Amino acid sequence: MQKQTSQQKDREHWGPGMGFLLATLGSAVGIGNVWRFSYVAGENGGGAFLLVYVVMVLLVGVPLLLGEFALGRSTQREGAAAMEMLAPDSRWRRVGLLGVFVASMILAYYAVIAGWVLKYFSLYLGGSAREFAVAGFAGGFRSFIAQPVEPLVWQLAVMALTVAVVAGGIERGIEAVSKLLMPALGLLLLALAVHSATLPGFQRGLAFLFSPDWTALTQPKVYLAALGQAFFSMGLAMGVMITYGSYLPTKRRLPGAVLTIALGDTLFAVTAGLIIFPAVFSFGLNPAQGPALAFVVLPEVFSQMPGGAWVGAAFFALLAIAALTSAVSLLEVPVAFAMQRFGWSRPLASLGFGSLIFALGIPASLGYGPWAGLTTTGGRGILDLMDFITADILLPLNGLLIALFLGWIWPRRDAMAASDLDNSLSGRLWHVSLRYAVPLLVTLVLVSGVWGA
Ligand code: TRP
Repeated sequence: MQKQTSQQKDREHWGPGMGFLLATLGSAVGIGNVWRFSYVAGENGGGAFLLVYVVMVLLVGVPLLLGEFALGRSTQREGAAAMEMLAPDSRWRRVGLLGVFVASMILAYYAVIAGWVLKYFSLYLGGSAREFAVAGFAGGFRSFIAQPVEPLVWQLAVMALTVAVVAGGIERGIEAVSKLLMPALGLLLLALAVHSATLPGFQRGLAFLFSPDWTALTQPKVYLAALGQAFFSMGLAMGVMITYGSYLPTKRRLPGAVLTIALGDTLFAVTAGLIIFPAVFSFGLNPAQGPALAFVVLPEVFSQMPGGAWVGAAFFALLAIAALTSAVSLLEVPVAFAMQRFGWSRPLASLGFGSLIFALGIPASLGYGPWAGLTTTGGRGILDLMDFITADILLPLNGLLIALFLGWIWPRRDAMAASDLDNSLSGRLWHVSLRYAVPLLVTLVLVSGVWGA
């Protein structure tokens, strides 16, 4: 048992039992697993992408996740303050600040997508999915997101819920909700995957997801996309996991939690792919159609199923909860920062940053409607561009800096003790990967990917 210092006693902590694991799983499993994984895999060659993705999770995601947890737990501070504590008067604090900035940017557009999820939930609940899709879900979805006001209202609802949970403290509400509903989402996902095996496009969907088109492996952008998705899906490189680790009161087996999260998060995404890709081919859709993929394909599946309206309502309700537990973790980064740094109260910090982040997300939403003309030369809209810059560029960049900090600045002996691995073979491997493998791989992927983009 670790001795509790007075600093630790004042700090909020996870409840006993599964609270920490469920909250971190809740942060990792979100619409990123369903919405982002499927469209990014669709755009990057399917099976080849999956292969590279799994390699990135194992080589980069797992060591970094363990490092973030260990750093948070041993300093009992959120990202920026944790780095400042170990390297006072240095520039490392800015790495934490970058995390605060990137978390806010990601939440800004994440809330837009989560708003779409809420809208779909209300459609199924109100029995109006059929009207919505008179011109098919592709048409219905496109005209919904093109409206100037309605998507903003749903986005506001998401932010209001997120603020309410974070303002109320994270343990009770979010822990209880995750415990009850994450298993339900998992089961429903599994049932839908079984159903997808009955679709005529199942073989092609399976082939798309599991048989790599090796030529895709020659494209640098596939590696960049896989790395960005691994960071995004595991919730890495922004201080979320440092902050969540800092609410750990005592010794807890960190390596087990890390493997559970990596495996659970990946299985979730792959199962979502097993539902989405067979349907894509069954309905003659294009797997590379971008962010709209899940919102068009899944409703088509539901509309062909007996009792599909109920399945749709249940699915989008659970997805909304998965989104909320992730959104909460994103808001927690600036909130924990403002509390520690400026001494703001939790409710003030939540409301202040929540409002700011809502405002930041408005352009992302309008980019599908009145501002649809604003695209890059590559055809990226505002949301797509925010997503690319934050997830594919800034997350790997910040992940690189965090790995360097963990591997080179944090004294080796302290880091290894904090990881629970100590001087075992896996402990030494972990430390070597933070020192050399992660920085090298991330730099390589980042440079070649940006070059080729
Ligand atoms: N992992 C979540 C998802 O897949 C989103 C998320 C939560 C996230 N925390 C994060 C993304 C931290 C990047 C960084 O939906």
